[in-house]
Order: sequence, then C-alpha cells, then structure tokens
Amino acid sequence: MKADQLSQTATFIAIKFYGLTRIDDFQTLFDASTIKFYDKLVTSLPAPLSYYHYWLQLGWIRKLYIWSEELLLPGDLLHIMGRKWIIGHILENLVDEGYEQIIVLGAGFDHLSHKYMQQDVSCIELDTPHMAELKRRFLDEYYPNSRRPRILDVHLPNDNIDTIFSNEQQINPHKKTIIVAEGFFDYLSSETVSLLLQQIGNYFTAPPKLVGTHFALDELSAFRRTVFTRSVQIVGEKLSFNTSVTEFRQLLQDNNYQIQLMQGAKDIRQRIVQHVDTDLPILPGFYIFKAQKK
Ligand SMILES: C[S@@+](CC[C@H](N)C(=O)[O-])C[C@H]1O[C@@H](n2cnc3c(N)ncnc32)[C@H](O)[C@@H]1O
Repeated sequence: MKADQLSQTATFIAIKFYGLTRIDDFQTLFDASTIKFYDKLVTSLPAPLSYYHYWLQLGWIRKLYIWSEELLLPGDLLHIMGRKWIIGHILENLVDEGYEQIIVLGAGFDHLSHKYMQQDVSCIELDTPHMAELKRRFLDEYYPNSRRPRILDVHLPNDNIDTIFSNEQQINPHKKTIIVAEGFFDYLSSETVSLLLQQIGNYFTAPPKLVGTHFALDELSAFRRTVFTRSVQIVGEKLSFNTSVTEFRQLLQDNNYQIQLMQGAKDIRQRIVQHVDTDLPILPGFYIFKAQKK
C-alpha cells in the first residue's frame, strides 16, 4: 500500500466494530471507553465514510449491511469482534503481569494504545505517514486532555525498523514490551515479516511478546479467497503474505519465537457464543497468536 493513502481496510475495521457494537450483546464484550472511542472515530472520518455513523444506528440499515457483508465474505464481521475482544484480553493479562511498553504495528484506527496510555503504559504506534497523521489529528481533536501515544511514520519495507526504534527516545529496549501485529503482516512479503521479526527480537534486551492475527488464505474456498483478495485490491491494498498456518508457525520458529497460543476461527467463535447470542459465522483461516522471543 502507498504511504500517502487512507487505509480502507483499517477504516472498515473501525466502521464494522462501531456498527456491530450498536447491538447490545456485542457491546457487553467491551468497556464503555472502547465503545466511545470507535463512536468518535467513525464521526471523525472524511465524508462519505462518516455517514456510517448515522446509518448504522438504524436497525434496518444495520441488518441490510450485515446481510450484504455476509453474502460476500461470510464471517468477516464476527472475526473483527473476536480479534478486538481476545487481543484485548491478552493485553490486559500481560499488563497485569508487568509488561510496561506496547508497540502497535500498523495500528490504523485501533484503540489499544489510547486505552493503555490512560493506564500509564508507554505506547507507541507505527503506521504509514498518512494514517499516522490522521490518527494524530483524531486524538488531538477528540481527546485533547488525554495522554497521547507516540505515533511514528513508517512505511515498510522502505523504512528500517532498527533505525526507527533507535531514533525514538520513547522506545526503551530494556522495558518488558508487547508488540502488537493485528491485521498487519498480511500486507507484507514474508521476507519483510522475517526481517521485522529479527529486528524486533534483537532490539529488546527483555524478550518481547508478540501478539497478533494471521490469515491463512489457503483455508478459504477458492471463491471466497478471490472475493477477499480482490476486495482488498480494489481499495488499493494488497494481501502479500499468503502463508498457511503451518508455514507461519515455521516462520515464527525460524526467527526464534516460541508460540504460546495459536487460536483458530472455530475456537474463537466458541468463546464468543458463550457470551453473545449470535448466529453469525466466523471467517475460516483466521488465527490469533501469542509468541515470545526466545
Ligand atoms: C488491516 S489494517 C489493521 C489496522 C489495525 N491494526 C486494526 O486491526 O484495527 C492494516 C494497517 O497496516 C498499515 N500498513 C499496511 N501496509 C503497511 C506498510 N507497508 N507499512 C506500514 N504500515 C502499513 C495500514 O495503513 C493499516 O493501518
């Protein structure tokens, strides 16, 4: 993706989260400040994207939107709820264990660093220059009195993570650190992901935790795979990673990360339906993982 474009994938994650959490059951999975964050975020989007804020409050439009989404890519909506909810829990536990620094790669319009900054955890976000600027402006306008994460401009593979980290005073290599890669590796080549894993692994003296998502496109039917990759292409982004879960496990291991969790779509759905009464399916091939640098 280009350095100067709005990430439509990041934008629609925020819109879909906002839309689904208009439904009470889904809303109960998240705290009020997280719900408010996406409410403000969707309002702040450039028109016509900001119109979703009003439309998705109307039950019949929401139903129509869910129906059309499920027709094209069944399970996409629930996978967003699942990843925001489960990654949120993983981070909560790690912060309770004493992790004191969070670096969010390809943060997009995600709420995590804003949330943890208010709990005195040092947070740094990385994204393309255009996305980073939009996020800075959003936080300035809608959260003028809150603690702000540092937001760094990074366009991979053009920028070097080693240089970015070394030049950034707020990134402390000695702190217990969580690296979040939610919906991020999918847009990079496997060489870039490998290099990134090595550079991150070598930078911190205390072995960092890596928390994120993986999409194994090979687990989708040929038709759904085409719909998924084309819809991302149409908005000017590209799914470049295209790695099976076995290959992804190997890549983590080859770069000296020990996998501590690799939860697949079925397990994630099972966890959600224990709390939410929903018949929405979940996207096959979707995983949430946690790994520790050895
Ligand atoms: C699918 S979005 C995920 C956003 C967020 N992590 C979430 O899950 O809500 C992917 C994000 O990665 C960023 N991104 C994609 N390719 C990138 C690259 N080559 N360098 C830096 N950031 C990139 C996009 O701008 C976008 O914000």
